[in-house]
Amino acid sequence: MSIFWSIVVALVILANIIGCYYLIKWVSKPNKGEVKQGEETGHVWDGDLTELNNPMPMWWLYMFYISIVWALLYLLLYPGLANYSGLLGWTSDKEYTEEVADADAIYGPIFSQYAETPIIKLSKNEEANLVGQRLFVNYCSQCHGSDAGGSRGFPNLTDNDWIWGGKPSDIRHTILNGRTASMPAWESVLKPLQIDYLADYLVSLTGREHKATDAVRGKRIFASYCAACHKADATGNSLLGAPNLADKVWLYGASRKKIIESITKGRTGHMPANKDFLGEDKVHILAAYVYSLSNE
Ligand code: HEC
Ligand code: HEC
Repeated sequence: MSIFWSIVVALVILANIIGCYYLIKWVSKPNKGEVKQGEETGHVWDGDLTELNNPMPMWWLYMFYISIVWALLYLLLYPGLANYSGLLGWTSDKEYTEEVADADAIYGPIFSQYAETPIIKLSKNEEANLVGQRLFVNYCSQCHGSDAGGSRGFPNLTDNDWIWGGKPSDIRHTILNGRTASMPAWESVLKPLQIDYLADYLVSLTGREHKATDAVRGKRIFASYCAACHKADATGNSLLGAPNLADKVWLYGASRKKIIESITKGRTGHMPANKDFLGEDKVHILAAYVYSLSNE
């Protein structure tokens, strides 16, 4: 925020608080009309409910004044007045970092003790898996689901079908460094009819209903445009994250329509890196947990 707007915002906030003070001063004055204090004002509701001309109770007024002082003190100590950062120098960032440091001091030794154990062995350790599951729910479930079952665009991690490889070292690498898949969009290269043939070919690979002559045409196109990444037999290449297109597992949907959409528009799934965020020890436990889900 620029200094100008910072001052404008600060003035608006202060004017509000001062405004509250004058408002309460104004309404707390006894009514100077014809009616004397303690007498009926003449306002009547529900037949017999009358209003007396009394000042507001002191306890109520004091609460109001105290809240005004409280607000001013708060704004002096904490960041709340536009760009002014407060006398205490409190920031949510700092508080978060401190909490993380405290937690690391307590849990760090537990995590590093697991880091010594190889992933396959660790994946059979019930206690470690419970820790891994909790980490997973916190950091991974928003994309992969709390049961790791995945959803469209986010792979299922429980089915032992891997895009980027299912060896312990592959899984660890995926979580630690992230992965970015890059399936080009083909709409500017191939005609819609050619993409149609390709869809027939891919559908034919899993034995579903298809036009046989079109599938043969599709196979030829596949060999020249797609085999470099997906392999000649369409079984995929985990080094590139190019999925197996000849099995029943589909990341973006198995229907003809979704397959055509994948080819036409391309797909660029991104798995974030966790090296700096979670660190190697937690990633190690997570890798063992993910490994355990499909290797019981
Ligand atoms: C440069 C490498 C590359 C080439 C060439 C390529 N692909 Fe892909 N393809 C990928 C990658 C990587 C993915 C995974 C995308 C993701 O995970 O977001 C993918 C995903 C797909 C999917 C979605 C699979 C699913 O599980 O939902 C289909 C369908 C597909 N490709 C078909 C093709 C066809 C047909 C061609 C040829 C016209 C082709 N690809 C060429 C790399 C490639
Ligand atoms: C922002 C969403 C997001 C979050 C958070 C996320 N992932 Fe992923 N993850 C993905 C996507 C998308 C892919 C697939 C990338 C692709 O298209 O190839 C993926 C792929 C993976 C794979 C590879 C699957 C395979 O078949 O090879 C593993 C393992 C994985 N994630 C584990 C994790 C773990 C463990 C966490 C928590 C630390 C996590 N992910 C957090 C989005 C996410």
